[in-house]
This record gives sequence, structure tokens and C-alpha cells, in this order.
Amino acid sequence: TIPVYLDCDTGIDDALAIAHLLASPRAELLGVGTVSGNSDAAQCARNTLDLLALAGRPDIPVAVGNHDFQAAPYGGGSPHVHGDNGMGGLELPRAPREPETESAAQMLVRLAREHRGRLHVIAVAPLTNLAEALRLEPRLPELVAHVTIMGGAALAPGNLTPAAEANIFHDPEAAADVLAAPWELTLVPLDVTMTEVMEEEHRLRLLNSGKPLPEALGRMLEYYFEFYRGIFGRPCSAMHDPLAAAIALGEVTVTRAPVVRAAVETGHGPARGATVCDLRGIYRGSGDQDGAHCRVVLEAEPGFPDFLVDGLLR
Ligand code: BDR
Ligand code: CA
Repeated sequence: TIPVYLDCDTGIDDALAIAHLLASPRAELLGVGTVSGNSDAAQCARNTLDLLALAGRPDIPVAVGNHDFQAAPYGGGSPHVHGDNGMGGLELPRAPREPETESAAQMLVRLAREHRGRLHVIAVAPLTNLAEALRLEPRLPELVAHVTIMGGAALAPGNLTPAAEANIFHDPEAAADVLAAPWELTLVPLDVTMTEVMEEEHRLRLLNSGKPLPEALGRMLEYYFEFYRGIFGRPCSAMHDPLAAAIALGEVTVTRAPVVRAAVETGHGPARGATVCDLRGIYRGSGDQDGAHCRVVLEAEPGFPDFLVDGLLR
């Protein structure tokens, strides 16, 4: 199994990623750190603890990470997408466990040292904690096996602004540091996450499963589906965070994923938070660049929502 540290802003699709990491036979979820994004970092930790308890895994530690971003204070999340509490308004039974006393960045550094060369970092939220961990331990890129990030928009439009995806836009300075660090990176941008769409039939299978965690996911997805109705014209949702988790675990066949140089725009113009991936080489083949270290997933085989739901109900 792959030892995993998850950095998230739980969040409805983050909840799906957590559920998938618990269900997958390939993953061993060692710890979760939270950061502000969909809700504030403390609320995201509460949501995560409650989800883990509901899943029968109250043993997994959760650390609260950064409340504010490098260049801006947290601005209040996205209640229209994830509800006031990040869970689409669903109140889960409150787990007795409290967050750890270490910060998310400290947890990441500790796990990287304890599982030297083996830890996979999966980040599905603003990259503030990862950037902080790089400052705490500059050798972090040598200590971890791989970093997979849900974030960015390579050729696709942004979602929070025309140019930028939410996780990158919230903290572009942190994202720039993380993309520049010399670790093996996989970027799972909107280009691919907007193509794997969960439909009402999937949601109903979760809702009517009679199992506590899938049922709760089915409930909160109703809220998420309403937001995506405005984008796709029907109740459904993109599968950002769980898709990144499954790609990190090698469970999804990626059909187009060049390894290129990628940078983040940190200026304050209309492209702030844009991920600038050098895809000029795709006209002459795979597009891979010598010396580059960021694999950008542009396309994956269809069918991920079926795979996800089947796994959650198994
Ligand atoms: C990303 O932003 C958050 O709202 C989601 O949880 C996902 O990580 C999509 O842009
Ligand atoms: Ca997220």
C-alpha cells in the first residue's frame, strides 16, 4: 500500500476523496491536514474528524493548518458551492476526537521523515501548508515519493476567475513555491476533473446504500449538484478531489499527461493564479520536456464516477 498524507479543505468533493482513500486497497491514509478554502481550516478539520469517525476510522489524526493565505487573509470560503459548514449544510454526528496539537505543515514534515522516500502527498486545497512545509524542511522534496495536486487549469478555463482555478487562486504565491520545488509532481487540473461527471444515478446509489458514510455523501452531494446545475444544466457534479486521489494511487488510466514546466502567475492582473503549463510540444507528440518535473493530466479514461461509487459501496 501507498502511505498517504492528504492536505484538504473539506469540502464536499474533499469528503469524497477522503472516503475513497479509506476505501481503496492501495492507500494507507496516515494523516490529514486542513487549510482554509471551501470553509475555514478549523471547520475543515472538524468536518474531517466527523467523516473519519463515521467511516469507522477515528484513529486517523487530523491537523489544522493555515487559516490565512500567504498574501491575503481567508475571505470566507464558498458557501454557495459547499454550504456554510463545507458539508452542504449536513450536520454529521460530532466525533469525540480533537485535532492534533501539531500544525498540518508539521504533520507533513514528520510523516515525510518517518516514511522517507515512500510518502505520497495528495493536496486538494490551497497549497499554503505545502509551501510552509517546504520552508520548515527544505529537503522535503528528497523525503517524499510524489506530490499530486488537484488544481489549476492548463488549457481549460478557470473556475474562480476566467484564468484561475480555486485552489491555486486562493494562494498563488504558495502554489508558485510548490510547483517550483524539485519534487515529482502530478497536476490534476480542471481540464480533466470537469470531464468526469457524477450523475444523479450515482448519487442515489450512495444515498440509498444503507451505509453511514456513503449515505452522508449522497446527502451532501445534493447541495453540490445544485451548484453544478448552473454549469452543466442538470443536477450533477465534477469530480475534482477524488479523481486526483485515484490518479495518485494509479487507479485511473491517464491518456494524455505530458511532463512539462509549469509556473503560477502571481501578478495582480486578470491572470492572477493562472497555471502556465508549457504545452507547446504537444503538436509534435507527447509534449514531454527534458528536465521538467510536472506531469499535467489533460485527459483520463472516462468512467471514473462508476469506479468511485463501486469502490465506496464495496
Ligand atoms: C477545487 O476547489 C474546491 O472547491 C474543491 O474542493 C476542489 O478542490 C476545485 O476547483
Ligand atoms: Ca478541495
